[in-house]
Amino acid sequence: MDREAVLNESSRIVDIILKTAMSTAEKDKVVSDSVENYAEYVNPAILSARKSVSSDYSFVEWEDEGAVFRDTHGVEFIDCLGGFGIYMLGHRNPKIVEVVKAQLDRYALHSQELVEPLRGYLSKLVAMITPGDLQYSFICNGGAEAVEMALKLARLASGKTWFISTVNAFHGKSMGAVSATGKGVYRAPYIPLIPGFQHVEYADAEAVEKAICNLIAVGETVAGVIVEPIQGEAGIIVPPPDYLPALRDICDNYGVYLITDEIQTGMGRTGTLWAVDQVDVVPDILIMGKAFGGGVMPITGIVARPSLWKNMLDNPWILGSPTFGGNPLSCSAAIAAIKYTVEWDIPKMAAEKGAYILEKLDTLKEQHPDILKDVRGKGLLIGMEFPTDDVGFKLAKDLFDQRVLVGGTLNNARVIRIEPPAIISYEQIDIVLKALEKTLAKLNK
Ligand SMILES: Cc1ncc(COP(=O)(O)O)c(C=O)c1O
Repeated sequence: MDREAVLNESSRIVDIILKTAMSTAEKDKVVSDSVENYAEYVNPAILSARKSVSSDYSFVEWEDEGAVFRDTHGVEFIDCLGGFGIYMLGHRNPKIVEVVKAQLDRYALHSQELVEPLRGYLSKLVAMITPGDLQYSFICNGGAEAVEMALKLARLASGKTWFISTVNAFHGKSMGAVSATGKGVYRAPYIPLIPGFQHVEYADAEAVEKAICNLIAVGETVAGVIVEPIQGEAGIIVPPPDYLPALRDICDNYGVYLITDEIQTGMGRTGTLWAVDQVDVVPDILIMGKAFGGGVMPITGIVARPSLWKNMLDNPWILGSPTFGGNPLSCSAAIAAIKYTVEWDIPKMAAEKGAYILEKLDTLKEQHPDILKDVRGKGLLIGMEFPTDDVGFKLAKDLFDQRVLVGGTLNNARVIRIEPPAIISYEQIDIVLKALEKTLAKLNK
C-alpha cells in the first residue's frame, strides 16, 4: 500500500462529500472519475451494457428530494423508477431523515451482545401492520438475504425439503434466492444450485398443487411455496384475484408453508399496505424490503407466524445472525417509514395516483396500439409492454432525454415500468404523461 497515495485520494473524496458547492470543473471531474472508476475498479461490463435508459454515462446521481433527483450539474429528473420500489415515500423524505439523523447522533450500530430496543419496537410495529397472526420478525439488510431467511425458516420449522416457485419469478441472486428465482439467465451459470426447487407456471394454482402431489407421491417432502403477489421483474404480471387464496388453500391442505415475497409489492406499492391484503390472504411468512427503509436506509426482513419459531428454542441464532441486521439506524428508518405510511395513507395515495396513470396509459394504448401493446399493474406498480426490447429501450431513452427516468426489467426493456414515489405530485405525473405522449408519437412515425 502506498500510504500517501491512499491518504491523498481518500482526503480528496472526503472533501467532495463534505463540500456544499462545487465548481463546474469539479462537477465534471466527479462524472469522469465515476466512469473511470467503474472501468477500472467496479466492473467495466456495466459501462458497455445497454441499460434500459442510458448507454451514455454523462450523468451521475448527485442529490435528490421528493420525486426527483439531480445530477452534479443540477439537471433534474423525475424519478418514475423509484429505485425499483425503494422510494415509496420519495427521496430523502424529511420526516424519515429527521428520525434517522436523531438516531445517528445517539448511536448508529450495535454491540451485538445486548437486546436492541429499536429492533424490538420495529418488530412490534411489523406485527401490528401485517395481516393475521404474523408476529415474529427477523430483520436483515438485503432482499436476497431476507429470502434466504424465509427459505431457511420454512425448512427449519417444517423439517421438510422442497420448495415450489414460479417460472420468471425474481427473488434475488444469492444462492438460495437465485435457486427460487425463475429466470434461466440468472440461474444457468450457477447450476447445480440448491437442490429441491421446482418451478411451475405463474398464476396457475393447479400447477402448484400438481407439483406438490407429485413430489409427495415419489416420497419427497415440501416445505414451502414461494411467490410474488405480482411478478415484478417478470414484467408486472398480475395474477387473477383467486390465485393467492387458492395457493393458501393448497398449502393448508398439504401442510406446506406459503411464503409471499412482498419486497417489491409491500409498504403500499400496490394500493394496500401489503398486496396480500387485497385478497385477504395471510401467508405463513411475508418477506419485506425495498420501501421498508423509507427510501433512506437499507433494511429488509421477514415476519412469520409464531408456530414457525418453535424449533429455535435450543439455539435462537440457528436461522442467522447477520452483523448489521436490525441495526438501530436502519430500524429507526423503518419505524419512521411505518409511521409516515400509516399517517399519510400512502397505500391510498398509490391506489389513486396509479388509477390516474393507468387511465391515461389506456388512452395512449388506444392511440398507439402497434407500439404500446399492453398496460397493466396495480397501484404504482405499472408496466407498459412494447413489441420488442428495442422499442422499449428507445422509449426509455427518449424519456430520459426529456428528464424522466423509467426502467425496464433486469436485462429486458420490452416491459418498461412506472414505479414512482407515492408522494409524486399530479403536476409531475402530468409532465411524465406528456413526455410519454410525445415519445410514443415520435416512435409511431
Ligand atoms: C420480489 C423481489 N424479491 C427479491 C428481490 C431481491 O432484493 P435485493 O436486490 O435487495 O437482494 C427483489 C429485487 O428486485 C424483488 O423484486
